[in-house]
This record gives sequence, structure tokens and C-alpha cells, in this order.
Amino acid sequence: MSKVFKQKEHKVNALRNVHCTIYQGEMVAIMGTSGSGKSTLLNMISAIDEPTEGTLFLFGEEANAIYKEPRASNFRKENIGFIFQSFHLLKDLNVEDNIALPLILNDIPSKEIKVRVEETMQQLGIYNWRKHRPHELSGGQKQRVAIARAIITKPPILLADEPTGALDVNTTDDILRLLVDIQSAGQTILLVTHDPYVATYANRVLFFHDGAIVDSYQNEQTEADLDAILAKFKVVSRGEH
Ligand SMILES: Nc1ncnc2c1ncn2[C@@H]1O[C@H](COP(=O)(O)OP(=O)(O)O)[C@@H](O)[C@H]1O
Ligand SMILES: [Mg+2]
Repeated sequence: MSKVFKQKEHKVNALRNVHCTIYQGEMVAIMGTSGSGKSTLLNMISAIDEPTEGTLFLFGEEANAIYKEPRASNFRKENIGFIFQSFHLLKDLNVEDNIALPLILNDIPSKEIKVRVEETMQQLGIYNWRKHRPHELSGGQKQRVAIARAIITKPPILLADEPTGALDVNTTDDILRLLVDIQSAGQTILLVTHDPYVATYANRVLFFHDGAIVDSYQNEQTEADLDAILAKFKVVSRGEH
């Protein structure tokens, strides 16, 4: 996939011939300096923006014509769960209503919504907060609610853009362990991060620089992973790869 942003005077090659395969059930971390094309890639995968060249394949099949509305919105609703650094919860809705929202938008019967929301709140340890509004929750609790909302539709792909960027160290661990639990239940996760420690929780790390994948690392789930990721990231972000 390639993406060129054309501006008046010059153009930006935000993605240069990026080719990658994310396997079902895998957690992949994308690391790269600011401006390296990470968010652009997530936007292409979620049909928020259209690539200049190239194609997205889902379950081995070309995701056809997904970049035109209304197909783009439907593709996103059916296939993508999103979590963000800043949670993006609706402040006037309580926890259970925030989580129910994607199901309401998908016209799921209200009885089924009630069952699924309860199940998911139990799974993520937020059932006791179901009547609370976002401002009454800690950062970690808010991110749990956001994760519940993202997975309630059982999307094939969960995209996470710096999901622990606004959390302290202990809460970061909680949320990363939660993502690993969700992955063990079969969820495919694509995670963008600046933080080598966060990337150790993934199965595999892809390193981005200037719109291209320039290196990768397969985590061995040992102590050595953090140093290996850090070393590769240093080389990549200096442009020395
Ligand atoms: N809508 C846009 N218009 C023009 N340039 C853009 C746009 N979005 C991103 N870019 C440029 O594309 C490059 C990659 O951006 P982005 O994917 O946001 O990087 P990252 O998420 O890795 O920080 C940057 O040079 C950025 O300025
Ligand atoms: Mg970004």
C-alpha cells in the first residue's frame, strides 16, 4: 500500500509500498517515530482514508470497494474495533450505555444487547461501575470501558493507537495484560506504540520509518525482548537501518 498526500507545493509519501500480513489471533505492535506513517496505516485498514495505491485483504480476500461510503462505514462497523490514547468515551452516557452504543447502531435487539453488555463488563472487571459516568472513573477504568466498547461487536481486528499513552506504569501493565487475555480468546490486535516496553507484549513488532516497514522483531517472551526492541528502535529512529 502507498499513500501520497498532495499539498500545494510538495507531496508527502506517508506510506511507501507497505506490505504486511497480520495473522488471525496475532498481536502485532507497530513502532515508529512521530510522522513515520503509523496512523496513516491504521486509517487505511479502517477505511477512514483511501490508499493512493494498493489493496487491503481481509481473511485472504480483497476488501473490495471499501473506500466509498456507505461501504466504508459498514466495513468499519463490521470489522474494526478501535481504542485510543484518550479513551473517546461519551461523557453524558454511563458505562453500560457507552459499551452498548455500537450494538444499538448495529440494530441488535435490546434483550441481546443487555446480555452481551453484562457479559463483557464482567469479563473486563467493570461490572460494579456500570452506572458510573466517565468522569467518575480512573484512567485505567476508562480504558477498560473503551476496550469493552471496541470488542462488544466481536470485530475481526482490534486497532489500538497508543492505548496506554495516558496511563501510569501500573495501570499500563493492567491494560496490557487485559489485551493479552482478550487476544487469548482469539482477538487479532494491531497496536501502535512509542514504548518498547508496551511492544514486548506483542507477538511481533514492525518498525516504521518514513512511511516504510524497515525492520521487524519476533518476541521470544523473555527478558531479552525489551533490549532487542530498544536497540532496533534506536537504529530505526536515527535512520541508520
Ligand atoms: N491529512 C494529511 N494531509 C497531509 N499530510 C498528512 C496527513 N496525514 C498525515 N500526513 C503526513 O503523513 C506523514 C505520516 O503521518 P502519520 O501517519 O500521522 O504519522 P504517525 O502516526 O506515525 O505519527 C507525516 O509526514 C504527516 O505530516
Ligand atoms: Mg499517529
